[in-house]
Amino acid sequence: MIAMNENYLKLKESYLFAEIAKKVSAYERLNPEKHIFRMGIGDVSLPLCNAVIKALHRAVDDQSKKESFHGYMPECGAGFLREAVADHYRKRGIELSTEEIFISSGASDELGAIIDLFDRRAKALVQEPAYPAYVDANIMAGREIIHLSTGKETGFLADPENEPEADIIYICSPNNPTGAVYSKELLRKWVDFANRRGAVIIFDAAYEAFIEEEELPRSIFEIEGAENCAIEICSFSKTAGFTGTRLGYTVIPKALSRGGMNLNSMWVRNRTTKTNGVSYIIQRGGEAVFSSEGQEEIRENIKVYKDNAKVIMEALNECNIRYFGGKNAPYIWMECPDSMKSREFFDFLLYKAQIVGTPGIGFGACGENFFRLSSFADPRETEEAAVRLRSVLK
Ligand code: MLT
Repeated sequence: MIAMNENYLKLKESYLFAEIAKKVSAYERLNPEKHIFRMGIGDVSLPLCNAVIKALHRAVDDQSKKESFHGYMPECGAGFLREAVADHYRKRGIELSTEEIFISSGASDELGAIIDLFDRRAKALVQEPAYPAYVDANIMAGREIIHLSTGKETGFLADPENEPEADIIYICSPNNPTGAVYSKELLRKWVDFANRRGAVIIFDAAYEAFIEEEELPRSIFEIEGAENCAIEICSFSKTAGFTGTRLGYTVIPKALSRGGMNLNSMWVRNRTTKTNGVSYIIQRGGEAVFSSEGQEEIRENIKVYKDNAKVIMEALNECNIRYFGGKNAPYIWMECPDSMKSREFFDFLLYKAQIVGTPGIGFGACGENFFRLSSFADPRETEEAAVRLRSVLK
């Protein structure tokens, strides 16, 4: 009989967002007349911007003509998009060569795939509350996980002062789910620690475009020494509405080597074996995000989500509910009222106000008694949800 990957037996029965979707469908079946306000999974509600749509149409036309048709794309990404990404970093003072940029089919795909680079014995440190895929992907790979809990006392930010025995260090900033953002000083501590220890930081920058405070770092490569210890994973999903279109990019500096092996070369070897590249059409759409028209339009969309966050925060302020995030991130991390458990509060909001959020426990044990609301819903829906929040929480 074939031997199976028994690590799957160590996983929870279903993935966080699948579990929520199941609960919501059951509620909808029983209450078909009720409208549901979806502020759970961080899925965008605005369409792709005009610059992207025009580029996608042009790319479809390219595929219709022999002279401009593209078959397989380069596995590590099209030159035009790698250049656009490098230029985007250059404008922010970070010099990267195009070979240090890999185009992916999205940050979540990449987060799952990149850990192929590390041995099964490498220990993964996850700063919690955290995006649950970090933990689940490493459980599937049979790795030991070090759960580093954070709490409101430190604004949900962790410090490496206890020198954890970590080999792979996950940092998500702005953080999903708490919205906390690392300062340059604190990030420097992690970079120095990783370099001292010979660890690798996986820096999830999916929400960098939401940072509004100038002094906060949007890339780990703003920190000296990060090129020797970090991989940065970025996404077009939240920045430019590509959740259903799928596109991302990953930076692996050429200077990053561990155990005599170069991670950039390893990833080239991995990608050339395991993918045939991302679709030409989608990469042209991604290129348009970096045009001046694209940048202006995505900024307008991000502002809509930020205004949504303000609407939610105002409602919580009026109800005297403490929360984190919302300012530099599209998530609001609120304390459950009356010391409710987060799953209990999920049911309460769904049954009493038809609002779907995400229970904090889904992001790690230290997320209990907290609840995440996403600001990606339609603005009118968000306004109505805020009215309902007031009515059930006041
Ligand atoms: C979330 O809601 O945490 C994210 O949207 C999930 C994801 O990006 O896969």
